[in-house]
Formats: sequence, C-alpha cells, structure tokens
Amino acid sequence: MALSRRLNQIDRMVTKHYSHIWDCCCDHGLLGMKLLERSAADALHFVDMVEPLMCELEAQLKKYAAPTDNWQVHCLDVAHLPIAQTPAEDSHLVIIAGVGGDLMIELVTKILANNPSRVIEFLLCPVYQQYKLRLALIKLGLNLEAEYLLRDNKQFYEIIHVTVNNDPARSEQLSPVGSLMWDFSQPEHRDYRLRMIEHYRRMQNNNPKAAEVVKQYRELK
Ligand SMILES: C[S@@+](CC[C@H](N)C(=O)[O-])C[C@H]1O[C@@H](n2cnc3c(N)ncnc32)[C@H](O)[C@@H]1O
Repeated sequence: MALSRRLNQIDRMVTKHYSHIWDCCCDHGLLGMKLLERSAADALHFVDMVEPLMCELEAQLKKYAAPTDNWQVHCLDVAHLPIAQTPAEDSHLVIIAGVGGDLMIELVTKILANNPSRVIEFLLCPVYQQYKLRLALIKLGLNLEAEYLLRDNKQFYEIIHVTVNNDPARSEQLSPVGSLMWDFSQPEHRDYRLRMIEHYRRMQNNNPKAAEVVKQYRELK
C-alpha cells in the first residue's frame, strides 16, 4: 500500500541505522514495513495495543517479509516497551505518529522513566497539541536532532526528532514554537504560523498563558 506524504517524510527522516526501531501505535504497520524493506534497523518492532490488528499484521509479515528480515510484533501499551531487555549498548529509535500530543507526552515520559540509563531517540508526529508536546520534551531534557513541517491532506504536521543527549556541545535547543522547520519563503509555512497565532489568540480569554504563545509565534523570523 502506498504511504501518505506524512509517513513518507517520517521514513525519510530515519537517516541512521539503529539496533532497534520501534514503530509505535503502528496500526497496520505501513511505516514499519517500509523501514523493514530498506533494512533501517537490525530489528524492527511493530507495537500497538489492539490485538486483532496485531494478529493480522503478524500474518502479513509472515507471508511477505523476506526470510532474512528481523521483525517482532508486540501487542502492548507503548508505555511498556521492553527496551530494558535489550543489550545496554544497543541504539533505539522510537517512532510515535498519528496520536495526540497529550498521549505522546505520557508515553515518552514513561519510556524515559523506565529506561533512565539508555540513550533513546524519538521521532514524533502528533496530530494535535504540538506546542504542549514541545514544552514537555524541553522539560524532559531532550535535544533537537531535526524537525520538519508539512501539509498532507489539508492538515499540517510537525515531525520532531529528539534525543537523550549527554553532549550539549553537539545538540540543538528545542523551541516550543519550532526553529529548524520554518521556511517562510513557502506560503504554506506562513499559513501555518497564522493558523497557530489565530488558534492561541482565540484561547486568550480563557487561558492567560496563550498571549505568551501568540507572542512567540509572532516573533518567529
Ligand atoms: C491513528 S493510528 C496511527 C497509525 C500510524 N502510526 C500513523 O501515524 O498513521 C493510532 C493507533 O495508536 C494505537 N494506540 C493508541 N494508544 C496506544 C498505546 N498506549 N499503546 C499502543 N498503541 C496505542 C491505536 O490502537 C491505533 O492503532
């Protein structure tokens, strides 16, 4: 099945080889299958909590994956990824896409709390609450590797690649309103910024913090 623009862009942002890639909240596993096909990791893990979906996906993979492909299907809550059961030196990329920012905050927080000594990278593409997610990632001490803004099917998506990074010298600071992703020569980017300003302007009466968010979007160059 063809990947959406959004999933294709997430695939393009996987530029390194990892010991483990976790395609979390994977649904039908389209993104993970693409990554498996191009051997982006030693082991590709498909994770979702809906059992019938995971049984169907497992059957598909048994039928179509190459015999040399290393994959596993996990029917579980993403908060409980079995990262601790892997060798300490292994590298991990955790991809979470297609769920809200609130849930993402909960999942990333739990994964980090369960694996305090691991260096884990996250590739995140929330459907809502991008600003709130970014604030939480900053609070968790994660650093920016890359970010991308795109429009797919009339909806805008921010894709945020962050990492646990012990080396501040080679890390980029994450901004609550985005930094590297903006290219204001593109009309779509100007449009997205205006939408965000409008969204937080409407919230100002009920939420005093919204004025500060509006200011931050306005100050973007
Ligand atoms: C809309 S699909 C996203 C599919 C794909 N990642 C994408 O971006 O197109 C959301 C999936 O998240 C799964 N999900 C939601 N919360 C979860 C959790 N805590 N643990 C595992 N799966 C979860 C749901 O079962 C559903 O299949």
